[in-house]
Parts: sequence; structure tokens; C-alpha cells
Amino acid sequence: ATTLGASAAEKGRYFGTAVAAYKLSDATYSGILNREFNSVTPENEMKWDATEPTQGQFSFTSADQIVARAKANGAKVRGHALAWHSQQPSWAQNLSGTALRNAMVNHVTQVATHYKGQIDSWDVVNEAFADGGTGARRDSNLQRTGNDWIEVAFRTARAADPAAKLCYNDYNTDGQNAKSNAVFAMVQDFKSRGVPIDCVGFQSHFNSASPVPSDYQANLQRFANLGVDVQITELDIEGSGTTQANSFGTVTRACLAVTRCNGITVWGIRDSDSWRASGTPLLFDGSGNKKAAYTAVLDAL
Ligand code: XIL
Repeated sequence: ATTLGASAAEKGRYFGTAVAAYKLSDATYSGILNREFNSVTPENEMKWDATEPTQGQFSFTSADQIVARAKANGAKVRGHALAWHSQQPSWAQNLSGTALRNAMVNHVTQVATHYKGQIDSWDVVNEAFADGGTGARRDSNLQRTGNDWIEVAFRTARAADPAAKLCYNDYNTDGQNAKSNAVFAMVQDFKSRGVPIDCVGFQSHFNSASPVPSDYQANLQRFANLGVDVQITELDIEGSGTTQANSFGTVTRACLAVTRCNGITVWGIRDSDSWRASGTPLLFDGSGNKKAAYTAVLDAL
């Protein structure tokens, strides 16, 4: 096939992108979106600060716009993210203990219920583990409500939308290291105790300091072997030309080599859409032209 989405579909996968609602009126952006991608992740619109700016008052307008557009184009939606230490509304940042735990549970219930039946996979919990060699949980207001906050979030999401696949998502877990080992142990524990978890997302933000790990495919495979699907959820790779293209090809082939790796999402469409302050980490240049990286992905699919 001649597009990312159609080629991925031929392999039983999806190819997605992060989408910003305010860019949907940009014709170049929407043109590429509709042509190339069969899954979307709202880049910011489903986060806690966006969906519940005031406690108990929900705001779904921007996220609804992305979901409606995706449905009209036959694309899947990856929900992102129900419980996360970052991009919390200030009222939640100021809560702790039982009040915060109850607020989190209510947030997960309300948001997952609003989108019930429309979400292929939810990033239920994002970035809950610390960087470095400790394998510890990240310190956060949510973590301080008790170590069980992650499983409570998953059980709550399952109750609200039983059809959605529920994922744990993180970065710096792309290769085997102390952080990914800790996530691995958590997934293994959840599986053994019947805590609902269906998938693990690997953000895969790469640059020269943090390149595609040599054991990327092996790491995806070991998680898949636990009985969860795996997805590449926020792919971007700083660099340019052949080097960058080769890295994108490597990532794509790694996913295809793992039966349970069922989708790849890039974190934006054009280089100018990237969240990264500098660099050219995506598949289309600022004018919307296909880069060598695009061709490498399409050829690998
Ligand atoms: C980023 C967005 O791309 C930016 O627009 C926003 O300002 C900050 O968040 N990991 C995640 C994503 O899980 O939600 C982040 O998205 C990038 C890192």
C-alpha cells in the first residue's frame, strides 16, 4: 500500500499520530492526517488539566473534536492519559491523601465513561516509574496516596469502559534496564493477581543521547510474552537524513517482528508539530513533504 496506515493495516497493525485539536483547521495538517494515519492520540486534550480544569466540572470539547474526526475517518483512538503526575490541574496538584485518591478515581470514571466504546486503548497510567537505576516508583502526589494507586486506576478504568484495552505507558523503558525491569515486574504481578492490564506502551522518544536500544525488539518481546499487547506510542527520533531514516526503519521492523506489537504512533505529523524544542524528529518536514524517514517506515511496513 502507499500510505502508512494502509500498509500497517495489511500487516494487522495500525499507524497513528498524536493530534492537536487546534491544528485540525490547517489544511496541510488535516490532509496528511486523513491520508496517512488510521489511529490518533490526542496530544494534550484528554489530559487531566484539559478534561477537568475545575474539580467535578468536565470539559471535553477539544477531545470530542479529535474523536469525532477520527471516527469520521475510520481511525482508532488511543486515549491519553487518565492518571499522570504531569499536566494535572492546579486543584489536583494541591490535593493529597484520600481526597486526591478519590479525585483520581472520579476522574478516571468520568473520562472513561464519557468515551466509553470509542477508545481502542487507554493509557490508564503514564510515567509512574523513576528514571535511573533504582527501579523505584516515581515520587508524585499520586504515588504518595499509596502504592496501590496504579492498580486502582486500572480497575476503575475497566469498570467504566470494559471494551477498551488498558495500557501502562512510559519512556526510557524501550530497552532492558532497571526502569523497564520494574515495569515488567509490575505487569507480571498484575497478571498473576488478575489486575486488569492489556497492553504496555513504549513512548520511544529517541535522540543521540538516547538512541534506539540494541535490545529494543527483545524488550518488546519479553513484555509480549507476559500476555499483553505492546505498542510504540510516542515515537520521535531526532536527527536527519539516512541516519534518522535507518532508525525509524529499525523501530518499525522491531514492532513487526513482535506478533503482539500491534501499533506504532508517532508524536506529531510535521517536524514543526513536534513537542521537542529543537530538531526535526518526525516523518514530514515543516511544509508537509515526506522525509527519508517516512520512506524508511513505509518500506519497512
Ligand atoms: C507533551 C505534548 O506533546 C506537549 O504539547 C505538552 O506541552 C507536554 O506534553 N510524554 C507524554 C506526552 O506522555 O503526553 C508528552 O506530550 C510528551 C512526553
